[in-house]
Amino acid sequence: MDVAVVTYAALPQLDEKEAPLLPALAALGLDARPVVWDDPRMDWRTTKVAVIRSTWDSHLRRNAFVAWASKVGKLTCLHNPPEVIRWNTHKAYLRRLEAQGIACTPTVWVPQGGTVDLAALMRERDWESVVLKPVVSADALKTYRFPRAELEAAQSCLQTLSAADEVMVQPYLTAFETEGERAYIFFDGAFSHAVRRPPGMKDTPRGFQQPHLFEPISEELRLCEQVLAAVGQPLLYARVDVATDNEGRTRLQELEATEPGLFLNLDPAAPTRLAQAIARKL
Ligand SMILES: Nc1ncnc2c1ncn2[C@@H]1O[C@H](COP(=O)(O)OP(=O)(O)O)[C@@H](O)[C@H]1O
Ligand SMILES: [Mg+2]
Repeated sequence: MDVAVVTYAALPQLDEKEAPLLPALAALGLDARPVVWDDPRMDWRTTKVAVIRSTWDSHLRRNAFVAWASKVGKLTCLHNPPEVIRWNTHKAYLRRLEAQGIACTPTVWVPQGGTVDLAALMRERDWESVVLKPVVSADALKTYRFPRAELEAAQSCLQTLSAADEVMVQPYLTAFETEGERAYIFFDGAFSHAVRRPPGMKDTPRGFQQPHLFEPISEELRLCEQVLAAVGQPLLYARVDVATDNEGRTRLQELEATEPGLFLNLDPAAPTRLAQAIARKL
């Protein structure tokens, strides 16, 4: 096999939004097949390259997934590489990017077992609503919003979350409701396409429902390029998620370099661009 396109047990044939990669690889004459990451029958030495795509249970089993990447990285050429998977599956990487000068969504980091006085924090920073979320997460899992009027519930939620792991505390950015979140997708360091997405938290008011392609905004592209430069190593695929803070500034929300949805269904040329980037790794 040339390319193992790595997915998870609930989507053995890939997500339909990501599946256009398979015909694009086949059109380049490559033998590419979906493989479930923890399928014990798979011998990873039998594929030239393995590309992580829809392993969408990795945040639920981070330790097992990171160990898997490290093992498979020794048997075949894994993208993104195991060390990227290790740091990118824990959002402390945002703290490091911020220390490197990247404008990230403002975050207060609460250590495991620790706490912070949310009433005082929100007063000091003038935050109307607060978002609490775990450092290992995806799909807004265990991500909660509380207005000032619900401080008691917020404080108790923080305690529950921090009992399990480090917690991120952020101001609730209202622009998610109107502008959504912008996902800039890069293959091998080159910009491919940009997608505007509705809020991920289920009960959030939203100005639009469906993710859609949009013209990249140059200031946001510049931030993405800064982020990728700060990583310091080329990534076969990356999705840079950009938000607008309550003062109207552009912020890095996340750098998804593990298993980002790449919205390959929205741009007819994107599957070929990714397939060509993969072919260059062979
Ligand atoms: N500070 C915030 N303000 C407003 N909405 C947020 C904030 N943080 C997260 N969200 C919402 O929750 C979703 C998930 O949070 P995110 O930080 O992207 O983590 P993940 O995608 O790993 O779950 C976002 O897409 C956004 O809709
Ligand atoms: Mg996200």
